[in-house]
Amino acid sequence: MRLSERTAVVTGAASGIGRATARRFAEDGASVLVADRDGEGAEAVAALLREDGFAARAAAVDVADEASVAAMVEAAIAWTGRIDTVAANAGIMVEGSILSVSVANWQRAMDVNSTGAFLTARHALPHLVKSAGTLVFTASTVALAGMKGIAAYAASKGAVAALARQLAADFAEHGVRVNAVAPGAVRTPLSESQFRARAKDDAEFEALLGQVIARYPLKRWCTPEEIAEVILFLATSRSAWITGQILPVDGGLLELR
Ligand SMILES: NC(=O)c1ccc[n+]([C@@H]2O[C@H](COP(=O)([O-])OP(=O)(O)OC[C@H]3O[C@@H](n4cnc5c(N)ncnc54)[C@H](O)[C@@H]3O)[C@@H](O)[C@H]2O)c1
Repeated sequence: MRLSERTAVVTGAASGIGRATARRFAEDGASVLVADRDGEGAEAVAALLREDGFAARAAAVDVADEASVAAMVEAAIAWTGRIDTVAANAGIMVEGSILSVSVANWQRAMDVNSTGAFLTARHALPHLVKSAGTLVFTASTVALAGMKGIAAYAASKGAVAALARQLAADFAEHGVRVNAVAPGAVRTPLSESQFRARAKDDAEFEALLGQVIARYPLKRWCTPEEIAEVILFLATSRSAWITGQILPVDGGLLELR
């Protein structure tokens, strides 16, 4: 267990990829701060982890709000005195092409996905320097390749990928490694909500999900646990020689077309 005696902070940990990552980090021995805008959801995830014998606490955080992010980081320090790894994972989907997305929704994508990643990194990095720790962002395949109809979301994730590379360059001299995962289609409330909104019934919903998967060489949705496994890899010494990478976890989508 590479994360025993270590403290991990996971944002967006009440659901989907973040929830799976919090559990995977806990299984690897970490004390996990389960942080999410949904404070009750975060508490429920932390309570389940504690029931299973793991060390976990919850924090309500809005990653787009600097004071809230500072308080989250302080909560981790007050708890264990250290932060060794951060999964900056909180994010929202914003749909629409550049002609249809409103300026307000563009701004929302930027606030949560880009500024949220920036603020989480900014407040955690002084502690990661002390622990020679790791930072793993959740970007997206759309940070690396074009996809129709999600201009604001893709731009917000492009910023996350660029930030990951820049921070890797800036903090390598401190022994801090910074990477990002770039997931393809992972079945979570975030991805399902896109298709629920468009489908008139369950059959159409399932048909839309099927259309997504048809584009993937591996022909199935990814699970949150499969992304969590890669985040754990990037967060621990298993990946000791890797920094500044944006790692696609995408069932072959980007390389095998
Ligand atoms: N699901 C996919 O197919 C997919 C693909 C590529 C990238 N991603 C990215 O993975 C990350 C996790 O997404 P998911 O699919 O698990 O979604 P999800 O909706 O299941 O979970 C996202 C979590 O983030 C939280 N959150 C949203 N805004 C927040 C804020 N301002 N402050 C704190 N927490 C906030 C939500 O409450 C939720 O618990 C996101 O960054 C998303 O963009 C998802």
